[in-house]
Amino acid sequence: MAKGLDVGTMNILSGRQEGAETVFVQQRNSFVEIEYSDMAEQMLSRSEVLHIRKDDKVYVVGDDALNFANIFNKETRRPMQHGILSSEEASAIPMIKLITEQVVGEPSKPNERLFYSSPADPIDSGLTTLYHEKTLESMLGDMGYDPEPINEGMAVIYSELADNNFTGLGISFGAGMTNVCLAYYAVPVMKFSIARGGDWVDEQTSQATGTPVDKVTSIKEDDFELDFRTDVGGVEGALAIYYENLLDYVIENITREVDEEDVEEGLDVPVVVTGGTSSPNGFEDLFADHLADANIPFSISGVRSADEPMYSVASGALVAARSEEGESGGDSGAAEEPAAEEAAPESED
Ligand SMILES: Nc1ncnc2c1ncn2[C@@H]1O[C@H](COP(=O)(O)OP(=O)(O)O)[C@@H](O)[C@H]1O
Ligand SMILES: [Mg+2]
Repeated sequence: MAKGLDVGTMNILSGRQEGAETVFVQQRNSFVEIEYSDMAEQMLSRSEVLHIRKDDKVYVVGDDALNFANIFNKETRRPMQHGILSSEEASAIPMIKLITEQVVGEPSKPNERLFYSSPADPIDSGLTTLYHEKTLESMLGDMGYDPEPINEGMAVIYSELADNNFTGLGISFGAGMTNVCLAYYAVPVMKFSIARGGDWVDEQTSQATGTPVDKVTSIKEDDFELDFRTDVGGVEGALAIYYENLLDYVIENITREVDEEDVEEGLDVPVVVTGGTSSPNGFEDLFADHLADANIPFSISGVRSADEPMYSVASGALVAARSEEGESGGDSGAAEEPAAEEAAPESED
């Protein structure tokens, strides 16, 4: 057995194979602090609510944090920011540990192989991913796993571009970050991240319209579409403007980064967009339109979106972990997986 884990700013997901099915477990990567009382503690202990007690505080963690935050009129807090462990959150590590334990569960055997997603270093901020990646590695090791980081963009290639020999451009639009990877026969040619994603769209829209950020997020997730026909001057209009700006910013950075690599002449590849931020109707078409206008030094055979944008990264991490373990040798879906030697993600620097 092997597992895949997607460690995102907003959501943490695990994927594992059960027979012919891939089973995913998901929790929101957030928590809320409530005052300790014997009553509260007893109530929580009898329920399924994920929580932890520390001194005179109780923390409700994961999906339930949002409900408790609403009831007690509190803000949820997050262990991660811009794709990596938050330096501004003192409780980041114990909280993310609790969420991760719940999501991956116990290893099915000692030192079970587990591939976890890790962003590429962002090109637009001074942050590096080293501390984040190493902290997760030791945390997962303590849980009894044999962990290995996989670049998030590469995980997208594994899950979405099996039918194209793991060749193409994979882009994961998350909450805290956008991760980009160009791969050629399962070998990453270029990878980078930018420290903008859905959170950035929400914050900008909130500032522009004077609407609380949580309200913006729920409008966006509810039934917002990128059709540019509605609501000039309102929240949806502002969301559309910042969405478009995010896409242009990503495309601009792809153009710049590809220029610095020696991309083979005549390269013609598909592009896959995924991640929660790619969910709204119209996203794929808008991205394709803007990409067509850009000066990218290779040609794009088409833009498509993942069937299950929330599951791409966990599922790609699982493909990598399984193929490295040699589990792909079986008959189910063997053609969908890369050869064992090619499957091991590059462990760069
Ligand atoms: N239906 C939706 N429409 C628009 N945005 C969405 C939708 N569902 C989720 N999102 C956004 O997607 C982001 C979370 O996506 P995810 O891929 O889980 O991010 P991360 O990997 O950073 O945790 C958030 O910004 C969230 O608001
Ligand atoms: Mg993610």
